[in-house]
Amino acid sequence: MKRYAIIGYPLEHSYSPAMHNTAFRHYGMEAKYEARPLVPDKFEEGLNRLRKEGIRGFNITIPYKQRILPFLQKLDPLAEKIGAVNTVVCTPEGSWTGYNTDAYGFILPIRERIKDIRDILILGAGGAARAVAFSLVTEAHPRRLTLMNRTLSRANDLRQALEPFASVPIQCIDASSGVYENYDLIVNTTSVGMGALAGETPLADLASCSHSGTIVYDLIYNPACSRLLKEASVLHLKTVNGLPMLIGQGSRAFYLWTGRYFPQEVDNIFSNT
Ligand code: ATR
Repeated sequence: MKRYAIIGYPLEHSYSPAMHNTAFRHYGMEAKYEARPLVPDKFEEGLNRLRKEGIRGFNITIPYKQRILPFLQKLDPLAEKIGAVNTVVCTPEGSWTGYNTDAYGFILPIRERIKDIRDILILGAGGAARAVAFSLVTEAHPRRLTLMNRTLSRANDLRQALEPFASVPIQCIDASSGVYENYDLIVNTTSVGMGALAGETPLADLASCSHSGTIVYDLIYNPACSRLLKEASVLHLKTVNGLPMLIGQGSRAFYLWTGRYFPQEVDNIFSNT
């Protein structure tokens, strides 16, 4: 039995185990995927346990997409550019290679509208934000990118990391500052709106920074409609939640492990959850 997992903290919200196990069952594979919540001070210990158990692959979610980097033996070039890893492929000998499938999953639901996206606001500057920002500066042609984060220094670090790939001006602002410019796309990459922070919003005044054509994209998928997306619906804005990205990044991860993509069954079950 090959073993796979997701690591992160907390993990109660995660659909990844159900999604990957559905795909393993569909293909009749002898494999199991489980949630492995790791509290921050037990992170390294948890990784050692996975290595000892002979894990064949795992996903990484909040807050470890950058913290995993020093524990990998190899890094795929895209993950290296992004500076964050959400998928690890492990050999039976225990060599771990890091990949980023978030960037691919993120762009899928907005690909057709990408040409209209000029002014972008990204909320958050962690590992997920890195994949989102990289995807947008390389696939869209924005006029301006604004990074807003609780910890301003992290937003500045992300700006620096993006500079080799972006000719677009990047502005960094503190999460407590007001935002009064109109954006075509607003993306939430923070955990504000889920778990213990469900019912909260990462953006104090959505109306002050949107226009009638703004797309509001929340990477959160559980709850399916976060407070930010509810506020966007009240303003009649276009909304996208994190489910298509979850399925897209998961299918790519599954391919890296098995050479097969998710079957349609996964889409049928999880895209309407
Ligand atoms: P991931 O790798 O999954 O993106 P992360 O690197 O821990 O996880 O990033 C989480 C993001 O959510 C960060 O932008 C974080 O802000 P800080 O950089 O200031 O930590 C943001 N975040 C998490 N909890 C938050 C909260 N309670 N209020 C505001 N922002 C929060």
